[in-house]
Amino acid sequence: MPKLLPSLRWILGLPVVIAVASLALGLPHAETLAAKKSPDKPLEKAFPHSQKCKRCHLRVFEEWEASAQSRSIISAPFRVSLERYRATTSDKEGSMCFRCHAPSVLEYPDHAGVFIKEIESGDPKLDGVGCAQCHLISEVDPNQHPPHPTYQLDRTVFGSYKNPEENLAHQSVQLPLYSQSQFCVTCHENLPGFEKILPKLLGAWEESKTQKAGKNCQSCHMPEEFGESANGERNRKIANHSFPGRFGKVRADAVKLEVETEVKGQTSEVKVTIQSLVPHNLPLPHPGWSRVEIDLTILGKNLRKVYTEQRYYERVFGDKDGNPTVFDFEAVKVLKENVLTPEEKRVENFTFPTPKDAPSMDVIVTLTYAPIHGDEEFVKEVEQRAALGKKDRAFKPVQIVRFKENVKLTGQE
Ligand code: HEC
Ligand code: HEC
Ligand code: HEC
Ligand code: HEC
Ligand code: HEC
Repeated sequence: MPKLLPSLRWILGLPVVIAVASLALGLPHAETLAAKKSPDKPLEKAFPHSQKCKRCHLRVFEEWEASAQSRSIISAPFRVSLERYRATTSDKEGSMCFRCHAPSVLEYPDHAGVFIKEIESGDPKLDGVGCAQCHLISEVDPNQHPPHPTYQLDRTVFGSYKNPEENLAHQSVQLPLYSQSQFCVTCHENLPGFEKILPKLLGAWEESKTQKAGKNCQSCHMPEEFGESANGERNRKIANHSFPGRFGKVRADAVKLEVETEVKGQTSEVKVTIQSLVPHNLPLPHPGWSRVEIDLTILGKNLRKVYTEQRYYERVFGDKDGNPTVFDFEAVKVLKENVLTPEEKRVENFTFPTPKDAPSMDVIVTLTYAPIHGDEEFVKEVEQRAALGKKDRAFKPVQIVRFKENVKLTGQE
């Protein structure tokens, strides 16, 4: 149990003793959240703002600042869906969403209202998923869904270094947890309470070849580099904190495409083989509107578009009236599930009329993360609330791969 750490020797103040006593009660987290009393010290002291770490960890800070994690309570889709959730469920304070988007609320349940005000302002001063929200996690309970984090709120940070240099700001303690996928899964799983009706968010990632070969989430999403961990310290192995995913470098290794075209007189056939190299579902179906589009486009004479067809890989949720919804928090069942499962090989066959009067055709296959979709009211609200309107990144498709070939059409003119 990592609770009795060297840090206790270092700072044996009363607050620590109380914290340890309450942890020892081991209440299940649902009760803890409702009954839990916020610590006496102000939230900004217990969870120092990431700006405080910037002073010594400039590189890490700049990478994190560019990452999605740093925007976990900022985007217009988040603001609008949080409001929808609060308006349509009994969780008026949105605590369920803060569980992962601003987990300090787990320790400070009476601060949910403060976060809501901050989020409504569109320019929150509090961190959602900042340095402290990750590095103060001392333990994760895998028996809860999603795995529940325990925070230790003193001046100890946890990490994966065996031999960190000492510094005046904090104690450093190594925990194996920080080198395990489990650490990430604590937030990258289905909404709490929904595990009974929804298939696993990540899919059978533990069974993937990648995981079995010892590659954890960090090895792809926090790629190892060599450099300074803290300003001016010696170079050593470091971990990239820009969390590449939908954006960033890892995308290039997401899927392999193979395309075979056969012209059969009047009709032509394209067989697309998609080999996912990702050891979890693609896309991950939270938020619920996430979907990957596969598009076939055929260009005929003078590069004119003569045929296009789109198919989607997604999880479609059914609400209590049986209607499809893009909000996983409204789900009572799954209406459609065809996300690419971990490392799956999928074949798609397309049939279309062979272009006439053309010496050749261009066959173009693209895989993209599709833009946000949902009911008209929701999409319009997001557009209105986004500072950039329709130019917000939520409305932009993100290309994963593109394949293009020119196919001769003999016997046609
Ligand atoms: C405290 C909760 C929490 C933990 C722990 C956590 N994440 Fe995240 N992560 C989030 C949230 C919330 C977002 C989405 C932010 C947003 O866009 O609103 C996110 C976003 C991401 C993204 C970007 C996704 C995209 O669409 O491009 C990646 C990649 C990612 N996390 C990987 C990881 C990895 C790897 C770990 C473990 C080292 C991890 N996360 C641990 C909460 C967490
Ligand atoms: C179990 C942890 C967890 C819970 C609970 C959770 N989220 Fe998320 N959320 C995430 C993670 C992780 C991501 C990033 C997913 C990705 O990119 O694959 C994310 C991404 C999102 C996004 C897209 C990114 C963005 O900021 O625009 C929205 C919107 C969102 N969540 C809304 C909500 C709402 C509303 C709730 C409450 C009903 C909620 N989430 C509850 C973990 C969670
Ligand atoms: C006064 C400078 C200073 C400040 C401020 C500071 N750190 Fe550090 N931190 C260091 C130094 C020095 C190291 C050791 C680096 C090394 O070993 O190369 C370190 C190491 C770490 C490690 C690695 C620990 C391990 O065992 O793996 C983490 C994580 C960390 N800091 C997080 C933080 C966070 C989070 C904050 C803000 C709350 C913060 N630091 C603020 C100087 C600082
Ligand atoms: C072998 C490398 C690899 C490992 C290991 C890996 N991922 Fe990914 N992951 C990817 C790739 C590649 C993508 C990007 C897919 C794309 O852009 O098409 C991705 C995308 C993501 C995304 C954002 C995109 C989405 O589809 O919503 C999140 C969040 C994420 N991974 C989390 C995790 C977590 C959590 C783990 C550990 C359980 C993990 N990943 C393990 C390769 C990996
Ligand atoms: C989503 C969780 C998450 C967030 C947010 C996060 N870290 Fe980390 N950090 C990790 C994990 C996990 C590791 C260990 C990675 C490994 O060893 O593969 C790590 C490693 C480190 C290290 C040692 C390696 C290195 O690259 O220097 C430092 C220092 C550090 N983090 C500081 C910070 C600071 C400062 C912030 C905020 C600007 C921050 N972290 C935000 C999860 C996080």
